Amino acid sequence: MSSTQDGYPSGRNPDEGEEGTLCDRESPLSAKRLSKAEKKQLRQALREAHWKTHAPKERENRRRNRSARISAMKAAGKDPSVELPTGKKNIFYLRKKRPVDQIVFSNIRVVIDLSFDHLMNDRAINSLVTQVSQCYATNRKLECPLQLHLTGFGQRFQQKITSLDGFEKWAIKTHSESYLDLFPRSDLVYLCDGSENVLRTLEADKVYVIGGLVDHNQHKGICYNLALENHIETARLPLEVLSEMKACKVLTVNQVFQILSDMSVKTDWKECLQLAIPKRKYPNSVQSYPNPEKKSEVHVDT
Ligand SMILES: C[S@@+](CC[C@H](N)C(=O)[O-])C[C@H]1O[C@@H](n2cnc3c(N)ncnc32)[C@H](O)[C@@H]1O
Repeated sequence: MSSTQDGYPSGRNPDEGEEGTLCDRESPLSAKRLSKAEKKQLRQALREAHWKTHAPKERENRRRNRSARISAMKAAGKDPSVELPTGKKNIFYLRKKRPVDQIVFSNIRVVIDLSFDHLMNDRAINSLVTQVSQCYATNRKLECPLQLHLTGFGQRFQQKITSLDGFEKWAIKTHSESYLDLFPRSDLVYLCDGSENVLRTLEADKVYVIGGLVDHNQHKGICYNLALENHIETARLPLEVLSEMKACKVLTVNQVFQILSDMSVKTDWKECLQLAIPKRKYPNSVQSYPNPEKKSEVHVDT
């Protein structure tokens, strides 16, 4: 599935949260005299121009990454044709094709709270659908996928996601009810960037809730306040391990989910954060973990 509804660069570079809009920088889009439609056209042209110049570079980067991995495997005495099979022998392909009744799920539970329909416009809803689809794709590739629940299905979100090809076969639990009615409150941990608690480990008896919201942080702290009102534990991801991380600590739903899914099989937060968060967010830090799975950096709305 395509990584973004918007492509890149768009009016807002979403992974940069509230900073980094093209309007902040000197750009043709900052010209106030342009109408909305003209800005949209210009944005589209910029996006096309970007892909024209960057697509070959990205392809080359992917090729280089793969060669680097092959060399590293050879140096470690491993056989790349076994470790890095392509096509139908690829482990991720095989996992994706597993019949649902043959999947052994991890005991880690994750909820995406989809009760924010009313706070999003159509574009944000589309972006959220893309992000949730990415969560699903990430989960399907795990040997033991996390137990993924979509709760509080808003009508507009539901309409969009159920129209995706094959959605009815997804190995996922969907609920119109709120997570509050589905799980004991003492099990719930709402993930919020503003929490004073830091998530250190994933526990099987907890249910980790991610706010299903694309709002460019317009509703700052909304999930945190909701969790406090409902007397639910909160936790933030330990982004401080990426010491060079830029100011904005608000991640997208799919980035948060990817970090949780990686942490279900690894133990190193730094590695998992680096795999999910675009490098430009921590530019001076040495990225020691190139993501073999990532075709290119994902640009999606926060
Ligand atoms: C795009 S953010 C929503 C931002 C929204 N304005 C808010 O304050 O909740 C989507 C969700 O990802 C999760 N999230 C984002 N950054 C996080 C962080 N640094 N630590 C923990 N969870 C985070 C939260 O569950 C959040 O609701």
